Amino acid sequence: MTFLKKKKSLKEVLEKAGKERTALGQFNFSTLEQLHGIALASEKARFPVICGTSQGEADFFGVEEASLLVKNLRQKKGVPLFLNFDHGKDFDQLKKAIDVGYDMVHFDGSQLPFEKNIENTRQVVNYAKKKGVLVEGEVGSIGGKSVVSREEVREFTLTSIDKIAKFIRETGVDCIALDIGSVHGIHKKMPRIYPERVSQLLENIFCFVVLHGGSGLEDKDVKEVIAKGVVKVNINTEIRYAWKEALAKEMQNDPQEIVPYKLLSSSRAAVCEKVAEKINLFRSTGSR
Ligand code: 13P
Repeated sequence: MTFLKKKKSLKEVLEKAGKERTALGQFNFSTLEQLHGIALASEKARFPVICGTSQGEADFFGVEEASLLVKNLRQKKGVPLFLNFDHGKDFDQLKKAIDVGYDMVHFDGSQLPFEKNIENTRQVVNYAKKKGVLVEGEVGSIGGKSVVSREEVREFTLTSIDKIAKFIRETGVDCIALDIGSVHGIHKKMPRIYPERVSQLLENIFCFVVLHGGSGLEDKDVKEVIAKGVVKVNINTEIRYAWKEALAKEMQNDPQEIVPYKLLSSSRAAVCEKVAEKINLFRSTGSR
């Protein structure tokens, strides 16, 4: 994907990614130096990225602040940065994110009974559509947490493709968090990935397909799912880990240091490096 000269909407950028068989990374943040590291990587690579805030990250950082800063960085640097609310479970919280200018919201009703999930997701879609905001939906839970875990991934059942297609049809979501075997976080033994589920879904119905639990997966699996049509890959744990390792090293090197910008500049660089590595991977399968 070439760097965008004209201002494009997130929908247009995702369409372009789909045509070129590349994917955009969604990189989560909850601190300013993480956001700066993400923006810097996007600027250097001349490739668009989606910044993400989960419920906890948004509560800590503030949705207004996240939206204003992403917009500011986008304008100042001319970098196509977008913002998504990741795994929102509450309509009012997502409404707020939409109102303050998020480009996309992910309503995660996967824990609800199927029909209730459809009803609540549709409520978010109806509100978001009026404001030109994209909605990601989820059916069939993608487990795990964005942490480094010593556990092996427990066996779980994948949702039937027909059920997912019905969910997409009845809710009108733009994007779907598709369960293809991945789970959030880095685990002792990473799960098996089922890339063929991406093509099976896309043969049934069109939707932007999102890979959750992108941390710790093998590059070959990530490339394969992108080749099959995934256009967005979510990364959180690897960002958190890079940030923390760099900070821990700084504190160990000089236990007396108390200046935040000295302690945290390595973390910013580490996040930037990690995002750059992922951007290279996500666009390596593409036609450009
Ligand atoms: P990881 O924590 O595995 O990177 O997953 C992130 C994610 O999917 C956020 O929605």
